[in-house]
Amino acid sequence: MPRLNENYLNVKDSYLFAEIARRVKVYEEEHPDKSANVIRLGIGDVTRPLTKSVINALHEAVDSQAVSETFKGYGPEQGYDFVRNAIAAYYAKNGVEVDPDAVFISDGAKSDTGNITELFAKDNTILIPDPVYPVYVDTNTMDGKNIIYMNGTEENNFLPMPDDSVKADIIYLCSPNNPTGACYTKDQLKAWVDYAKKNEAVILYDSAYEAFISEPELPRSIYAVEGAKECAIEFCSLSKTAGFTGTRFSYTVVPKELVFTSSNGTKMSVHDMWNRRQSTKFNGTPYIIQYAAAKVFTDEGMAECMENISYYKENARLIADVLSKKGIWFTGGVNSPYIWFKCPNDMESWEFFDYLLENAQVVGTPGAGFGENGKNYFRLTAFGSHEKTKEAMERFDRLF
Ligand code: MLT
Repeated sequence: MPRLNENYLNVKDSYLFAEIARRVKVYEEEHPDKSANVIRLGIGDVTRPLTKSVINALHEAVDSQAVSETFKGYGPEQGYDFVRNAIAAYYAKNGVEVDPDAVFISDGAKSDTGNITELFAKDNTILIPDPVYPVYVDTNTMDGKNIIYMNGTEENNFLPMPDDSVKADIIYLCSPNNPTGACYTKDQLKAWVDYAKKNEAVILYDSAYEAFISEPELPRSIYAVEGAKECAIEFCSLSKTAGFTGTRFSYTVVPKELVFTSSNGTKMSVHDMWNRRQSTKFNGTPYIIQYAAAKVFTDEGMAECMENISYYKENARLIADVLSKKGIWFTGGVNSPYIWFKCPNDMESWEFFDYLLENAQVVGTPGAGFGENGKNYFRLTAFGSHEKTKEAMERFDRLF
């Protein structure tokens, strides 16, 4: 009999969004007359179709696979140079220099933030904000790692800052934040970089929502902070930037400057380790997808994406307007597609989830699914259509 990884006994039976989908399915089965009315603003899944440049590129790439001269088999495990260069150029446009060789193409920031745990020994102390994107907690729990939490609260606008009395080896940060939509300033990120360097820690920085930042002084990458390449890995994705949730494309920057010393004194390059891991366990994102993804980083491709992002931000404004009118505390929605608010009438978040589903047929995400500190909060996403978001918020308005 195999000995199983018993750390799996320590994670909840199902992943947060699978649990929400299950509860909504049960509701729809029990209320078939209401199921057509259900409006989903729970999981942060996009609804706008892929842009014209991406669709054209997908067609071109598919056709190129039908011709022996242009057909592509295995590609480089790290991704094709044309897209790694396009990503480095995109960083440069935002004022950040990134070596294309440090960019690794993958199929999702979710997979990479999970897989990166393999590079770190079991006895590390992992510092994770609460509330947080559940993947960071679940993957480290599956690995049997020691997690400590830092509190996100209304007082710190759900943006925890370093505490010198805490000694962590690995720190997860996400900005603009999932689930709260709050965004670190450059000074705040600098404080994290200083902490990481002082403690010889590594920051795992999830910037999947960077394209939603509209306030120019806010950093879109941790590498906007000097010295961050010596202590941070950055994960980003086209899921939210370009509507690739179903198409799958992400990139992880593992700087060559990231070097630590092993127990026997050998210098170990995290970049080389990730390269070794990826070339052993991954055969690359499909060429067709990489070819289309490269178009996102052109001026025309990015302008099309920004139109969709503006569309979603208008939804965020609709949500925020109703919450403001009701005097409900919230954060997010300006530099992010997520709005995080205090549950009305002192309800707990799963109770509020059921209440909203039963009385307004609106699905959101209970804050408790993101951690203990989320238990009285709720997340709505701006990724729906204008019509459905407006309708959902009219129902909300009538309810409270
Ligand atoms: C969310 O709703 O939090 C996101 O869709 C999760 C993800 O990007 O995996």
